[in-house]
Amino acid sequence: MDWGVVVEGSTQLKVPIVDKLTARNPVFYNPAMELTRDVSVAVCRILKPASYCDALAGSGARGIRVAKEAGVKEVFLNDLNQQACSLMKENADSNSVSVSISNENCNFFLSDKKFDFVDIDPFGPPVRYLDSAVRAMPKKGFLGVAATDTSVLCGTYPTACRRKYDAVSLRTDYYDEIGLRILLGFIARSAVRYDYGVRVLFSHSTRHYFRAFVELNRGRKFVKPSQDNIVFLQHCFKCLERSYVKLGDLREKCSCGSKLNVVGPLWSGVFADKDFCNQLASVLEDGVFNKKREAVSLVNVVREEQNVLKPYFNLHKLCELKNRPAPTMSSVFSGLSRAGFQAVRTHFEPLGLRTDGGVSVLSGLVV
Ligand SMILES: C[S@@+](CC[C@H](N)C(=O)[O-])C[C@H]1O[C@@H](n2cnc3c(N)ncnc32)[C@H](O)[C@@H]1O
Repeated sequence: MDWGVVVEGSTQLKVPIVDKLTARNPVFYNPAMELTRDVSVAVCRILKPASYCDALAGSGARGIRVAKEAGVKEVFLNDLNQQACSLMKENADSNSVSVSISNENCNFFLSDKKFDFVDIDPFGPPVRYLDSAVRAMPKKGFLGVAATDTSVLCGTYPTACRRKYDAVSLRTDYYDEIGLRILLGFIARSAVRYDYGVRVLFSHSTRHYFRAFVELNRGRKFVKPSQDNIVFLQHCFKCLERSYVKLGDLREKCSCGSKLNVVGPLWSGVFADKDFCNQLASVLEDGVFNKKREAVSLVNVVREEQNVLKPYFNLHKLCELKNRPAPTMSSVFSGLSRAGFQAVRTHFEPLGLRTDGGVSVLSGLVV
């Protein structure tokens, strides 16, 4: 096994050098996840949790950075892999931070403890750990959740999505937004089961993974608004109309006469809190982060997106359907705004846009 040293933020880490990242690597460290670790540090600087736990900690990179760069006093790192635990210890010592290290199964580890912040960062789906993570929350707490099984959530493997997330997915032109919303819906369903309401602070889709940071509050008054945001989505492949619907309002046919497909349950609310995004952008801007530029621009686009909750449209897919050449994005943006509709960019897709104008208004601008 070869080892190297990397610097993330202001933390120096010993990490394994591998040809290919797989769950079978002796210790798991993924350099492509540095952006999410930068964001985790910034999130913890804002939330200031008294205790933070990375229940699937790998090399310990995330938790050691949270201890050192966000100043969280009580940091707990757990991993089933003994070699990972030895590496965490080395990394914590070389950075002069004090962390508590455990070598247990994640669900067993979380079963008799409470943490203000629990991070679930698995290789694949987070599904089997979420119940334990919610049960480890005090009355108010925070969850960080990653999912790397994007093809399951985005509709490539619908049977696996039914099995893992108890949700119907669909391969549409906005498949990645469906994936993120199914994940958020699953997190919310896991939380309301234990009488917690969720407030999504920040979430995004980046390359091969989804990431979410949510606040959980226990109590009936928090649960009802979360339940109201867990709905279904209906999609028409003929005219590309899409809309959120409650279970009792599902329809068979679209207004264009075609069959409507059902997706969900999924989260229909904001997938980031605008005020939290403002704080996050400013903490990232002011700090020492290697992925600062990418992270700040992501947060700014995600914040803008919350003005329109309806899933984004892919302009090229719409033009393909209408058999028309694609107009420039700027002409479509100004056309929508002249017609009195909102139009915002989306971090999911460079050729995507969100609008409250609906498919008929948008279609009118591409013919
Ligand atoms: C994606 S890595 C974690 C990366 C780390 N959080 C970071 O930010 O760099 C997932 C880790 O989960 C560990 N793991 C897998 N199944 C586990 C289980 N049931 N309980 C505890 N750890 C587990 C693996 O050994 C691996 O180190």
